[in-house]
Amino acid sequence: MKAFIIDRYGKKAALRATEIPEPELGKDDVLVQIHAAGVNPLDLKIRDGEFKMILPYRMPLVLGNDLAGVVVRVGSGVQQFKAGDEVYARPDDNRIGAFAEFIAIDQRSLALKPKGLTMEEAASIPLVGLTAWQALVEKANLKKGQKVLIHAGSGGVGTLAIQLAKHLGATVATTTSTANVEWVKRLGADIVIDYRKDDFEKVLHDYDVVLNSLGTETLEKSLRILKPGGKLISISGPPDVDFAKSAGLSGFLKLVMRLLSYGIRKKARRRGVSYSFLYMRASGEQLRKITALIDSRVIRPVVDRVFPFESTPEALAYVETGRAKGKVIVKVK
Ligand SMILES: NC(=O)c1ccc[n+]([C@@H]2O[C@H](COP(=O)([O-])OP(=O)(O)OC[C@H]3O[C@@H](n4cnc5c(N)ncnc54)[C@H](OP(=O)(O)O)[C@@H]3O)[C@@H](O)[C@H]2O)c1
Repeated sequence: MKAFIIDRYGKKAALRATEIPEPELGKDDVLVQIHAAGVNPLDLKIRDGEFKMILPYRMPLVLGNDLAGVVVRVGSGVQQFKAGDEVYARPDDNRIGAFAEFIAIDQRSLALKPKGLTMEEAASIPLVGLTAWQALVEKANLKKGQKVLIHAGSGGVGTLAIQLAKHLGATVATTTSTANVEWVKRLGADIVIDYRKDDFEKVLHDYDVVLNSLGTETLEKSLRILKPGGKLISISGPPDVDFAKSAGLSGFLKLVMRLLSYGIRKKARRRGVSYSFLYMRASGEQLRKITALIDSRVIRPVVDRVFPFESTPEALAYVETGRAKGKVIVKVK
């Protein structure tokens, strides 16, 4: 089958098209013919080697963390899915490879695709949808009437998180640049801070939750808009010990993560708020809950651009500009 691989880690490592064997199917696996794949900043971080300590992939590696497609066949232990089903998924992080014609996915990571979405729209959902769910529902336990700041509201995670937070009944503030202010309001944001003109720290106070996806400066400022007992959840680091434990990392890596997050945890403690890092995980079960919200039109996909399969490297380069509005998709079939 045709796939896009890297041969080594590195910022300059080229993503190249090649022919590789179709994946082998385990007992609990579903073989999916990929119709569309979502592109994520995570693909770039994996390419650059940022995750090699915690996710040591074997080279050559097929990149790609999001997909929608059709089931070709299933392993002997699979009962929930059958050939011909239209499905979507974020595969387990040790079994990625969506920039390819086929992928074998554990049945527990898979869900039926929302009926009203195209393959391209469906492929835009899993990774960012699960991230928003795990941050706002699982970690933050966001409730009606609470106030949440979602940074980078026009990005892949931001567009989904705004919609989910509104559905949960929260007041939603977000940050974006001038050109996107009206656009994120239409997505449901109540308060929009144009980061080119205003400093969110001076405008927002007494927030219950912040979802951070930006750098250290934004992370530290975010602490100062939370009320006592508030929660700062970061998906862009630094990782903490709880993450190291849940990922089953070694004692040495636990220590590394403790040190990396020491500063922000200390500052959070002083202000009476909590800090936690989230690294999203695959979950077919949570994806089904997101499907229900899509079916009932609570959440809609936000697709910026669709690239043909042969232009996967260009799709990755577009995401790397950091200016995508919603999701970038590769049409595989
Ligand atoms: N830990 C996890 O599980 C996890 C999961 C998903 C994503 N992530 C991470 O979260 C980050 C965001 O992911 P994504 O998919 O949402 O990225 P993305 O779609 O590529 O984000 C692009 C958006 O970011 C906005 N942006 C850039 N700088 C900004 C700033 N200073 N303030 C406000 N908005 C800004 C841009 O809007 P403008 O053009 O208006 O600036 C653009 O719309 C990435 O670092 C990704 O790796 C982590």
